[in-house]
Amino acid sequence: MVLECRTYLSDLTMWNSEVHDPKTNNIQCSQCTLEPSKRLRLSNKVAIITGATSGIGRATAIRFVEEGARVIITGRRRELGVQVESLLNGGRDGRRCCTYVHADHTKVEDCQKVVEIALKQFGGTIDILFNNAGIVTSGTAETTTEEVWNATFNINVTATWRMSQICIPHMRRQPGGGVIVNNGSDWSVVAGKNALAYVMSKGAVGMLTKQMALDYARDGIRINAVCPGDTFVDRWIERGDFTSRSDESAIRSASDFIPMGRFATPEEIANTVLFLASHESSYITGHLLVVDGGHTAN
Ligand SMILES: NC(=O)c1ccc[n+]([C@@H]2O[C@H](COP(=O)([O-])OP(=O)(O)OC[C@H]3O[C@@H](n4cnc5c(N)ncnc54)[C@H](OP(=O)(O)O)[C@@H]3O)[C@@H](O)[C@H]2O)c1
Repeated sequence: MVLECRTYLSDLTMWNSEVHDPKTNNIQCSQCTLEPSKRLRLSNKVAIITGATSGIGRATAIRFVEEGARVIITGRRRELGVQVESLLNGGRDGRRCCTYVHADHTKVEDCQKVVEIALKQFGGTIDILFNNAGIVTSGTAETTTEEVWNATFNINVTATWRMSQICIPHMRRQPGGGVIVNNGSDWSVVAGKNALAYVMSKGAVGMLTKQMALDYARDGIRINAVCPGDTFVDRWIERGDFTSRSDESAIRSASDFIPMGRFATPEEIANTVLFLASHESSYITGHLLVVDGGHTAN
């Protein structure tokens, strides 16, 4: 099956035609004069990024737009969502690259609304879904309440499955298929102390990723998970873990257990998501890609 897609060449400010067959991995570009390595990696792709009001989701939205994508971003903190939207729509060529949709992904109707708006806004395709929205909770088998367990699973697992469930039929119908990246954790592959519901939920995200990858491998849909280790996000400051980003000695001693001796940045995780979402990972599906400074190698 051959698909028609368009390659946006920002430096030439023009559109080109590209023909790509996801099943054989053949690409033919009739008019493109640039070397493949100089083309934007997500030219004209449409991506939904859940939970992009801050942290890894926000960094990924910025990275995707830099690489030519148009993104629908979601989250419950409206003010932050609108800020990311304005930042990404302020580019030189005036192209609309980003739409923020206020959504709580624990609600079915909000998940449906996000996909409907994405389809209407950007030409009827969804090429990439990054299931990023999630919460961190703590507790042991004894101290975890039913409320915490349910809240953790509702967003980390059920919303990841639900958004995939809604997007997959569209991806399957598209000639170019689609890509799903789930945000797991290094705790998708190893356990961590005092984080029962979180570890269980991220373990489930890992198996959900593998299961869906098998089920849709013949439909041109690749499904992988990025599994970040500790990544320094603003939420850590809001939570009071650190006073600021320049809280150097506290940050150094807290990250001492990591072989590389530092936390990840959201941009480093975003670069990995970009790789998994782009054509560069065209033969990878069902994979949990750990990005943890060597933590789980221990
Ligand atoms: N930072 C780390 O060390 C680390 C490590 C491994 C994995 N992760 C994973 O990375 C993902 C992003 O977390 P982060 O570290 O970047 O923290 P963050 O800045 O707190 O980002 C979490 C995002 O999820 C959104 N979200 C949470 N619940 C939601 C809901 N019910 N509906 C819609 N959006 C919701 C938040 O938006 P609103 O608050 O605006 O709703 C926010 O945009 C999570 O899945 C997390 O488990 C993080």
